[in-house]
Amino acid sequence: MTTNKKILKALAGEVLDTPPIWMMRQAGRYLPEYRETRAQAGDFLSLCYNSELAAEVTLQPIRRYGFDAAILFADILLLPQALGADLWFVTGEGPRLSTINSTEELKSLKPISEIHDVLHPIYETVRILSKELPKETTLIGFAGAPWTVATYMIAGRGTPDQKPAHDFKDNNVLAFETLIELLTKATIEYLSAQIDAGAEVVKIFDSWAGSLKGDDFIKYALEPTKTIVAELKAKYPMVPIIAFPRQAGVAYKGFLKSTGADCLAVDDSVASAWVAKYLQIDGCIQGNLKSSHMVSGGQDMVDEINTIVSDLSQGPHIFNLGHGITPDANPENVALMIETIRNFKRS
Ligand code: CP3
Repeated sequence: MTTNKKILKALAGEVLDTPPIWMMRQAGRYLPEYRETRAQAGDFLSLCYNSELAAEVTLQPIRRYGFDAAILFADILLLPQALGADLWFVTGEGPRLSTINSTEELKSLKPISEIHDVLHPIYETVRILSKELPKETTLIGFAGAPWTVATYMIAGRGTPDQKPAHDFKDNNVLAFETLIELLTKATIEYLSAQIDAGAEVVKIFDSWAGSLKGDDFIKYALEPTKTIVAELKAKYPMVPIIAFPRQAGVAYKGFLKSTGADCLAVDDSVASAWVAKYLQIDGCIQGNLKSSHMVSGGQDMVDEINTIVSDLSQGPHIFNLGHGITPDANPENVALMIETIRNFKRS
């Protein structure tokens, strides 16, 4: 293929000498330059909607480390906000939203065609980035998967076990399924607009997929992702899609084939040797260093990186963490991670 972008090569199934690298939450509070720009913007949401500053924080980790991909700086909860939910962030605690717990509350949401009225600054961020990124860096757009976004819309906040969303699903399945369907359509619309603005790859974050079991996993994690992939592929056959049904465990098996996604992102609850044997046979894998290594560093981190890179060296691989980097991470460990991966020698 005619690209010099390593991420696009891996997504097309190429096995490279060393895997391309990026990191979930690579623009974030562990970086002093991020904290400075965030202070300039005022707060997190103002930063998301300020296209110039959002592009600036997206570029910061690229300048500092030379990652192979940049991920648009935004949040999965901007979509519910664009659908009419109130959204705010409580410092040190996380997101808060107005809740959806009935058919009536569902009906109060705005029509999908109106999401762009709120989300247009996000598309502008994408347009700025597609001009300013180095030519070898891939631009990744993203959205939350319907189930994960629904868990926040129903509970009005993050919850350890997503119980409010499970209760809503179990007690009012019709309204719950209407919400999932609405979010599926809105996500297709949102990701399409990101692609139109210049996103070269899109990623679907299903952070709470692991709390769906059995049939529920198929109906509410796998099926919505499959629909989103099918609709995007019909419109944009050349744009690769990364799916991240976090903590899916054995349900990771077959997920790539069933959904038609190009790459399966895996968290660190699955061993890289198992991933190579049971998942990488179906295509490109992204992952999966435990984020806490970015805090502790040292030889343990180096050894674990070498194990992951070695285990996944026989197929297409994009190196990433198993989940986002945390604010207490040491920026020097990120540099050492990249150096370790790029110096890896195949045996
Ligand atoms: O990865 C990136 O660098 C791109 C930007 C990005 C953010 N959030 C920025 C952010 C992405 C891809 C997300 C996705 C996201 N947001 C997810 C899915 C991935 C995951 O982590 O499971 C979820 C569940 C959210 C919702 C969300 N946003 C929560 C629960 C929180 C609070 C937790 C925290 O770390 O503070 C956020 C805030 C958030 N989103 C921050 C960033 C950089 C921290 C905000 C700050 O600067 O204070």
